[in-house]
Amino acid sequence: MTQPLSGRTDGSPPPPERGRRARVPAPGSPVPTAPGRLPGLGHLLPLMRNPVRFLTSLQPLGGLVRVDIPTPVHVVNSPDLLHRILVTDARSYEKGAAFDKARTILGNGVLFSEQPLHLGQRRLIQPAFHRSRQPHWRTVAADCAAEHLDRWQDGDTLDVLDEMHRIALEMIIRLFFAARPTPRTSERIHQCVNVLLGGIMIRFLSPGTLLERLPTPGNRRFERAIRDLNTIVADLARTARTTTANPMGDGDHQDLFTTLCPHAADLDCSLQQSCDEAISVLVAGTETIATTLSWLFHELARHPDHENELRADLAAADGDTTRTGLLDRLLNETLRLHTPNWVLMRRARTEVELDGRTLPAGTEFLFSLSALHRDPQVFPHPDRFDPDRWLPGNSPVQHRTHFIPFGDGNRKCLGDTFARTEMRAVAAAAVTRWTLRHTPGTKVGETRLFATLQPTGLRMTARTAPKPR
Ligand code: HEM
Repeated sequence: MTQPLSGRTDGSPPPPERGRRARVPAPGSPVPTAPGRLPGLGHLLPLMRNPVRFLTSLQPLGGLVRVDIPTPVHVVNSPDLLHRILVTDARSYEKGAAFDKARTILGNGVLFSEQPLHLGQRRLIQPAFHRSRQPHWRTVAADCAAEHLDRWQDGDTLDVLDEMHRIALEMIIRLFFAARPTPRTSERIHQCVNVLLGGIMIRFLSPGTLLERLPTPGNRRFERAIRDLNTIVADLARTARTTTANPMGDGDHQDLFTTLCPHAADLDCSLQQSCDEAISVLVAGTETIATTLSWLFHELARHPDHENELRADLAAADGDTTRTGLLDRLLNETLRLHTPNWVLMRRARTEVELDGRTLPAGTEFLFSLSALHRDPQVFPHPDRFDPDRWLPGNSPVQHRTHFIPFGDGNRKCLGDTFARTEMRAVAAAAVTRWTLRHTPGTKVGETRLFATLQPTGLRMTARTAPKPR
């Protein structure tokens, strides 16, 4: 059994009327504060209880609404204001407080760094994500997915998120690190990334560092995961620098480390920076892919008609994932309804004008892509999984600003093309081989305060897929 994800399962108050537009503020009026603030805690409790519901509930209060978590942050509710922050005035903003902390934990890779360092890093790393590499990605992703999926047995009960995490990780390691780590090393990377992503959000949101320095088993596990991951990635980088032939056997150095340091003997090329970039890619690219694919399988099980159609389309296209429009529509709809990066953050670098107000440098902003993607004025019946809303004639023009699962502007996802290629390959390989259905008793929910909005409790049973008619 699955429970409707949009339904209330936590006893929280009913949501506000969806789709009501934010009020236009009187010039110079103060930014309204969200109701329900508690002394000392601010709005931490409703945020921790159900973050997406809480952030969505703020939409009718204004384009900008202040919440205290417990330090003040401005929640951005309007897609136009968001576009100004991410794109038009992007140079006036940086990633913000959460990333100050992330940098001290996960290094100064492109995902976490600020200007002026970020621009140079982005230019340096970009070739590793160039779309000309798509055919190579497609081949490796398909091989990797097949190897993994062929290990499943008819009747197996699977923790789908965990399975997808393993596949996503393996693909990143093979494609970006050009390495074939031992199963033990792969397993340790998998565990480390899981521990890091499980603990990072709460560290982002807790003020100071007192809580994370307490010698609790969870904190010790977290610190060990960071240490181990750094050691493993440094070993992979050293191997890549000393390897003369690409282990993938394609005769072309396409891995991340070689892109960053084309001359192995280049002493200016810091090993630490290579490791920081590699950790950025691991953190940014594993969980997001695993989460999206898991939600896709959840939705296909709820909508077997789409699954059958996809199987037939893939058979007609002879397995060529570039020739089925339905697969892209299914992925878009999954990215809309189950956006992995449910929240993004920014901080004003200078004084900024926004929503008719002047806000000082240092003002922190937060916005929810999940709330944006569930706006009923752009996506009618937003809680309904409907891939047909992506048919060419049905896509409203606002999609450009209302559908940004990969972000926008100068910090837009570097791995978007790679991610889509990879997800197409895994989805096609899985649907052609297996039918996944929720195991009886399964209750699927959404994670609370995890770095990505993952499905919880997604246990599915694999059955051999029928031959398409
Ligand atoms: C479904 C898959 C994915 C989604 C939804 C996604 C989403 C995002 C989003 C929303 C951002 C922007 C964050 C911000 O503006 O603060 C981002 C940044 C980034 N993503 Fe992805 N991502 C995905 C997959 C990947 C993959 C597979 C990789 C690498 C292999 C990757 C690498 C990056 C990097 C390096 C950045 C930082 C870019 C910068 O700050 O300049 N992503 N991603």
